[in-house]
Amino acid sequence: MKTILVVQGKGGGPKTATVRNLAVAVATAGLRVGTLDTDPQGSLTHWHSLRPADVAPIAGEQRVLGEVTERPTPQGLDLLVIDTPTAVEFFPESTALLFDAADLVLVPVRPGPEDLVSMQAMLPYLHSRRRPMRLLLSQIQPRLRETADARAIVAGMGTPAPVEIPLLQEVPRSFMAGLGTAEIPGTRTGPLFRDLWAYLSAEMGV
Ligand SMILES: Nc1ncnc2c1ncn2[C@@H]1O[C@H](COP(=O)(O)OP(=O)(O)OP(=O)(O)O)[C@@H](O)[C@H]1O
Ligand SMILES: [Mg+2]
Repeated sequence: MKTILVVQGKGGGPKTATVRNLAVAVATAGLRVGTLDTDPQGSLTHWHSLRPADVAPIAGEQRVLGEVTERPTPQGLDLLVIDTPTAVEFFPESTALLFDAADLVLVPVRPGPEDLVSMQAMLPYLHSRRRPMRLLLSQIQPRLRETADARAIVAGMGTPAPVEIPLLQEVPRSFMAGLGTAEIPGTRTGPLFRDLWAYLSAEMGV
């Protein structure tokens, strides 16, 4: 089993949207995928409760970060994707366990100045964990000058994924349907989350 830890310093990252849409892209590719929701807000767990009965199965577990006392080792999965709350630094021991479990750390970054500042502040910690890390530009508006600026800044922070997720209402809409965009025909981000999985799986040697 491989594990991807999705983490970011700023609320509205978008961590949960990345976790669930990536998990759906993996599940619809026929792999056994599960998610672990460590955020006390539980929005990923709520999304699981909204999933229709006839879609690709995704195992969903919830354990709030402060109660993580050992590395998660779920059975029977090809991939575990872990969602985290914003302030992981309040639970350093639990957070360290999640990093230790991660084959890859995926950090979604929005192009706004506050997000980039918060990402900059978190970088020393992220690098100190010594796990393979990829940055994912998300909620982007491709034609804005700020997006080009953010690309340059993010490239200086680490290795960006060769996929960017645009700001589109289909993403929050898919939450309320209990779906990921990869299982909604005609979405723009669905194929992008599939591409993201193709990239990450190759990087992890899956
Ligand atoms: N690509 C996108 N386009 C439009 N809206 C998006 C996109 N990605 C995420 N969102 C929306 O942005 C909001 C925040 O995203 P999300 O819940 O994934 O962030 P988060 O990092 O998990 O936040 P929190 O720290 O509160 O857990 C949500 O309403 C989500 O649906
Ligand atoms: Mg969240």
